[in-house]
Amino acid sequence: MTQNKGLSLVELDDQGVDLAFRADVIAGLSQAQKALPARWLYDDAGSQLFEDITQIPEYYPTRAETQILGNRADEFASDIGSGRAVVEFGSGSSVKTPLLLSAIDPAAYVPLDISGDFLRAAAADLSAKFLGLPVYPVEADFMRTVALPDAVKDMPKLGFFPGSTIGNMVARTAVDLLRTMRETLGEGSKLLIGMDLIKDKDVLVAAYDDAGGVTAEFNLNLARRINRELDGDIPVDALEHVALWNDDHARIEMHLRAKHALQFTVSGEIFSMAAGETIHTENSHKFTRRTSATLLLAGGWTPVKRWLDDEGRFSLILAEATIPRSAP
Ligand code: AVJ
Repeated sequence: MTQNKGLSLVELDDQGVDLAFRADVIAGLSQAQKALPARWLYDDAGSQLFEDITQIPEYYPTRAETQILGNRADEFASDIGSGRAVVEFGSGSSVKTPLLLSAIDPAAYVPLDISGDFLRAAAADLSAKFLGLPVYPVEADFMRTVALPDAVKDMPKLGFFPGSTIGNMVARTAVDLLRTMRETLGEGSKLLIGMDLIKDKDVLVAAYDDAGGVTAEFNLNLARRINRELDGDIPVDALEHVALWNDDHARIEMHLRAKHALQFTVSGEIFSMAAGETIHTENSHKFTRRTSATLLLAGGWTPVKRWLDDEGRFSLILAEATIPRSAP
């Protein structure tokens, strides 16, 4: 039986189990290298822990990107221009989104999110801050083409995808998403996208393995979530948080590593881990000017402008939907 959690897109069985979560966990734990899609890190507890991460001293991306958004309002106004419908992929940050909207005088704001609760809260918050700005929240999975509300169909669009969330995807998935965004936004649209930069390995690792252990809690919460929601008995105390720099793939990886050999059950299935074996839980790809351009171009977006924070740690890139032309 399929049950609807309010108006949400989440499919639950008659026990209230999220079927996609269970399928991903069982499949991911059955692989030689155990791996779980990073999106499952963000239940309520995980989303709160990520909010906490944005405040820790070692985690620079949120501060760096917010600094760019705060300092470049004049350039956004001239390079993006007024009268666009801003389509945000994800329900938006209460700090970053207002900085962009107040810089560019948009005609409408359209947040897209798979979680209706986050979406409605963010939309209400935004409407209160920008009286007179039409806000049209759309509950949707933005990994697929989204039909935008009729009211914004004829407006020029600006896609907004901050946070270097694109970095969570491997190149193939990132390119699929960029192409889907172009499909959703249409010809003549622009995209403002945050992409974190390759830098000193120790700085990167510290940002994902903070001294206060907040990122460790964020990572371990995924094991706790499996226990809570999928009738699991993972011995969470026997797992440790690992953040490592994978230079070949230019990414930080988060893993959960078994301190000793262990066995556990999830949804009635038995899994075991050898001492030192890991569950890979997240990738966070980092870019250079050229690799970010290559990724965007592969996804159908031509970069036109790029801003960095004062310390050169993070990039915010403005791109235009590439016009297909015959070319060599
Ligand atoms: C929100 C996905 C961009 O990869 O930097 C932070 C998530 N993971 N610390 C990132 C995250 C560990 C974050 N993103």
